[in-house]
Amino acid sequence: MKEIVPPPPPPIVRNQFETIRELFTKNVVPSYGRFDLALSHGQGSYVFDVNGRRYLDLGGGIAVCALGHAHPAITEALVEQSRKLIHCSNLYYQEPQGRLAQALVNLIGPGKVFFSNSGAEANEGLFKLARKFGHDEGRFEILTAINSFHGRTLAGISATGQDKVKKGFEPMVQGFRHVPYNDLEAMRNAISPATVAILVEGIQGEGGVTPATPEYLLGLRQLCNGKKLLLMMDSVQCGHFRSGRFQSYQRILENSELATKNDEPFLPDAVSMAKSLGGGFPMGAFWVRAPFADLLSAGTHGTTYGGSPLACAVALKVLEVIERDKLEANAREVGEHLKAGLLALKQRYPKAVREVRGLGLMLGLELAPELTNVLPGDPAKSMATRLTSLLQAGGLLVIPAGTQIIRLLPALNLRRHEAEEGLGIIEATLRSLAQPGS
Ligand SMILES: Cc1ncc(COP(=O)(O)O)c(C=O)c1O
Repeated sequence: MKEIVPPPPPPIVRNQFETIRELFTKNVVPSYGRFDLALSHGQGSYVFDVNGRRYLDLGGGIAVCALGHAHPAITEALVEQSRKLIHCSNLYYQEPQGRLAQALVNLIGPGKVFFSNSGAEANEGLFKLARKFGHDEGRFEILTAINSFHGRTLAGISATGQDKVKKGFEPMVQGFRHVPYNDLEAMRNAISPATVAILVEGIQGEGGVTPATPEYLLGLRQLCNGKKLLLMMDSVQCGHFRSGRFQSYQRILENSELATKNDEPFLPDAVSMAKSLGGGFPMGAFWVRAPFADLLSAGTHGTTYGGSPLACAVALKVLEVIERDKLEANAREVGEHLKAGLLALKQRYPKAVREVRGLGLMLGLELAPELTNVLPGDPAKSMATRLTSLLQAGGLLVIPAGTQIIRLLPALNLRRHEAEEGLGIIEATLRSLAQPGS
């Protein structure tokens, strides 16, 4: 390890922001609405911009940087594996992929794993799995939830229950219908003879940090059993210990009396993963329950890069550190502390904060409509975007969701004092906009 410790970051080049933005304006497809911030390097839960200013990162690269930035164990795994074998294709066997698949099966349940390169691709695998499952009976339709988000591929936006991602790209891939989330009756009524699967997030992320209820999850399982449908869960954002358990459904159901009455523990038929799985190294995966694990037989699905030795070595290391440093418990404890702090802010600033939602280190702050009149910035921009910019000015990175929700998706090793620092910046920002009680 000693000889591979990365050298200190290069000296910070001052005032490079405009130059970098110019490079983007001229050369990068403008499909993202970016903030006026160019980042240079990070350390733990802090990142630094090109002018050397430090920010507390409670966005975690949108729920990706599970161990924070520049974690030495990730560097070590990258360097060690890259000295051996970075890539070899899926024409051959290699140990890291086999070991990672085993680790994920041990964490979820009996089944098998397919590796992809992103969350959208992991979901594409689920769509194909469902189509294969129903093919011989002519069933192909997948029901998803309104306000869901399932990725930006053509099938991903077709599956996503939000019109804004579809606009301009019609016609959609056929075979997806959306029904209200957490509404079992609506789901039951939507099932048609063509339906083959249900896909939901355990906690809706992009849709505004809304956890599923225990009744909903258990009801969906029963519905799928009764109608011979696959129950598929998109855990790209809410999975990988973010909720305080490996899977958000485990956390949601852990104290449910209904769940303990059941003979068999709740298990979906398939789970997609990405984001924190690689801790920043791009990768995705899906797990499929044992009875369906061989549906995608040789030649039916694949990707050149998926599950490369390098990606899997990093993901194994991320899992090892999460276990070694007890980050599952940390996500729960620090998450609860953070949530309590946010709830206190809701009490103190009821005209700024309407609701606080989420589990573990996946938290959402729904802004009150009144805030729109006092928030500085371009009124054409959403409240969430304008508050995010203001928090950035105060030294804090968060992620907007929709027009009025701020998401906190920090590293799983976030410390209590860092959570408090973040709460302090949020409070100071809200205080600058409104008086307590207003
Ligand atoms: C729930 C969910 N599914 C799928 C995706 C798509 O993942 P990716 O951006 O890695 O393709 C995301 C990304 O935000 C997500 O939150």
